[in-house]
Amino acid sequence: MDSRLPWLALLQVLAFQRGSHLAAGGSLGAPRTPVLGIIGAGVVLPCRLGSAPVPEDFSVRWTFHGRSQRIPVGGYGGKGRREEPDERYRGRAEFFHAEFRAGNVSLLLRDVRSSDQGSYSCQVSFQNVSQEVLVELEVAAVGEPPSVILRSPEKRDLGVSCRSSGWFPRPELLWLDGSGKIRPEATTAKATATPGGLFSVEGSVRIRPGSDLDISCRVLNRRLNASRESRVRVHDSFLPSISQWLRIFLAVLFLNLALISVVSCQLQGERCLGLRLQLRLRIQLCSA
Ligand SMILES: *[C@@H]1O[C@H](CO)[C@@H](O)[C@H](O)[C@H]1NC(C)=O
Repeated sequence: MDSRLPWLALLQVLAFQRGSHLAAGGSLGAPRTPVLGIIGAGVVLPCRLGSAPVPEDFSVRWTFHGRSQRIPVGGYGGKGRREEPDERYRGRAEFFHAEFRAGNVSLLLRDVRSSDQGSYSCQVSFQNVSQEVLVELEVAAVGEPPSVILRSPEKRDLGVSCRSSGWFPRPELLWLDGSGKIRPEATTAKATATPGGLFSVEGSVRIRPGSDLDISCRVLNRRLNASRESRVRVHDSFLPSISQWLRIFLAVLFLNLALISVVSCQLQGERCLGLRLQLRLRIQLCSA
């Protein structure tokens, strides 16, 4: 055996220690900010040794740091003590074997789920020395285009509601007018977590007659700075149906008043003609 081998290995360890220190500081290999994974797609959790080539007998182990437990994600090498990945990660985690020699022990995680979000450690060991770096994974998803529903007019207001699902993390819901400005009306919005770990959001607004009838519902994912928007332009003819009801209501009111005047004029006997004339006029006005 070559007597220089232990020295070479030591040099490598030193280089790796320096590398991982730098990686933790964010200037080499490992990202300074969390890695962003899109739900349903694949993401590379980066981890790179500071030196290359890497010795043949090394091992690498990726672990998810859950709230209370450490979950094995994937591993390579390390004779004998092979650790099976947890069921959550089985078949989804893969190394770039061809890149090992170049010091790249990054992990490809496929079909990202919302539960994958969190801290991962990349632990590399050789010659009984091991080093570890932490990689933070954030996940995100853009949901479906929102569906906007016009509710039947309540009193004189037009109720509009909006809903969209498939978001992560919790999205924001905004109501905009025709010029893209936030609407002045009071709105409600509520996001709920679905069993799949994604969020649905539902909101509503009451549009007063006379305000802008160009109504947009925008659902926004701040993490991705991405949004989906649906727009409705309520035609004026939708609102006359409100004023029609109003007209019927007023007509009934006038008829009641007229009946009261008829009754009172019959009781009094006088000035009846004048009142009857007024009454006829009123009824004509109503039916016009
Ligand atoms: C490792 O290799 C993969 C596949 O070529 C590449 O996508 C990734 O960016 C590399 N990572 C690092 C840290 O070099």
